[in-house]
Amino acid sequence: MFLRTLLVIAVCVNVGGRSLKNKGAPQRLLFDEKNKDHWNIQAQWVLRSKVAAPLNKKVAKNVILFLGDGMSITTLAATRVYLGQQHGHNGEELKLSFETFPYTGLAKTYCVDHNVADSACSGTAYLTGIKANSGTVGLSAAVKRGDCEGQRNGAHSVTGLMDWAQRAGKSTGVVTTTRVTHATPAASYAHSADRRWEADTDLPKKGLHCDDIALQLVRGRVGSKIDVVLGGGRKNFFPKSQRDVEGHNGYRSDGADLVREWLVKKTSMGALPKYVYTRQQLLELDVEENNSVLGLFAPDHMPYSLEAEDDDPSLSEMTQKAIEILSANKNGFFLFVEGGRIDTAHHETKARKALDETAEMAKAVEAALRMVDIEETLIVVTSDHSHTMTYSGYSKRGTDILGFSNKMNASDNLPYTTLSYANGPGYKPHEQFRRHNLMLDDINHLNYTYPSLVPIVRETHGGEDVAVFAKGPWSHLFTGNYEQNYLPHAMAFAACIGPGLTTCK
Ligand SMILES: *[C@@H]1O[C@H](CO)[C@@H](O)[C@H](O)[C@H]1NC(C)=O
Ligand SMILES: *[C@@H]1O[C@H](CO)[C@@H](O)[C@H](O)[C@H]1NC(C)=O
Ligand SMILES: *[C@@H]1O[C@H](CO)[C@@H](O)[C@H](O)[C@H]1NC(C)=O
Ligand SMILES: [Zn+2]
Repeated sequence: MFLRTLLVIAVCVNVGGRSLKNKGAPQRLLFDEKNKDHWNIQAQWVLRSKVAAPLNKKVAKNVILFLGDGMSITTLAATRVYLGQQHGHNGEELKLSFETFPYTGLAKTYCVDHNVADSACSGTAYLTGIKANSGTVGLSAAVKRGDCEGQRNGAHSVTGLMDWAQRAGKSTGVVTTTRVTHATPAASYAHSADRRWEADTDLPKKGLHCDDIALQLVRGRVGSKIDVVLGGGRKNFFPKSQRDVEGHNGYRSDGADLVREWLVKKTSMGALPKYVYTRQQLLELDVEENNSVLGLFAPDHMPYSLEAEDDDPSLSEMTQKAIEILSANKNGFFLFVEGGRIDTAHHETKARKALDETAEMAKAVEAALRMVDIEETLIVVTSDHSHTMTYSGYSKRGTDILGFSNKMNASDNLPYTTLSYANGPGYKPHEQFRRHNLMLDDINHLNYTYPSLVPIVRETHGGEDVAVFAKGPWSHLFTGNYEQNYLPHAMAFAACIGPGLTTCK
């Protein structure tokens, strides 16, 4: 899929080459970075395509929001190289699928109470249009983390894109590689004063009772109307006393079998639902027979792509099936897709996994692009917050992005890696007052924890802005630098949904 993108770029450059032929730019100089024409032709082509591009002011019948959890700009730059090097290129010069989108912006991600965002407050911002407190989903900042009473008091509940799309008669879906009850997907359908309340077992034992997130997915007004739910987190839907298909015990204390309840509820709502739990079942699902699907492919998060087995669907496969089902609705759809394990890999300072998960995300966007009519489908790709990974040194072009900086050793005459973290579990204690010699490590290991300056069990998020990439109707609204909660307002405008200003009214 990535190769196809490469080809697209190559063809474009050739077009530029042809148009400059009269001026004597020999074709063989294309891709020769030492020749000035290479850079002129390439830049002129980009300029021409931008000057010629008309603004698309049609109504966005469909909206797809792709969210790379923790997908910082540094992560994108490193992933280009990672993916390019897998295909025999230097890598730096390439683009991920969504980096070819015509409009980009920068979103400020802080929460109301914290300077660096978590996925819960951030999800609430880019899905509902209001900024919230850290650790809370679907609630305004009037509710502090853990305030069950504030959650029960409906006055502070906020809904967004999922609800607005449903009210407009569109189909809706949520796809993730994490538990479907995890903070990011939860922000699309739930209201929870604590992101950790994924099942009733997670709720405080004393005091008021609050509905857990899994319950809200099945019984909630917005959650119960979602047509396609795909991801991990099966344990939160079954009682502790019950074993699931893989022999794992459920995690619920209230005895509820939420999958059975979901099937009954969907049938009563007139849908033709199906529950699936393997890749094969998902791929074989006939969208003519079943128009609503709940897929729970793992008891917890889905595995990293580098560790996936045959019965684990990829993010691309889940995205494709979701689009196949949702596009049957003549009113269009809203689909939210999360590449959720970029974040968990960064927290472990496992850079190799983080880059690979980002590559998977780029493939999923590419898969979606091939299925939709971009004239009537708005695609936005962004992230919820950054991480502390840096990409540094002055290595030669094409140097292994996951290896050592090859220009020179540090001032202590010891090598350092191109990728490193400001904090996290990759901290290596000094030995005899010297920095640990990384040459002694197996840095090619899948689970290698990249070095960090400060020892912290879980590497933290970063506070700088995240990139926003947009293509399709009204994608030009996503340029500039803005607060993250602007995003759903602009998507709703383009799709003519929600209570705010739209292109239809
Ligand atoms: C969903 O499809 C299956 C066949 O794959 C069919 O047996 C089932 O009845 C369908 N579900 C409903 C509720 O129609
Ligand atoms: C860099 O450090 C390593 C490990 O101490 C050493 O083997 C290597 O010779 C050093 N390289 C230079 C250019 O000093
Ligand atoms: C990497 O770590 C995971 C646990 O996080 C483990 O299941 C897996 O076997 C490890 N992979 C290798 C190659 O050691
Ligand atoms: Zn995180």
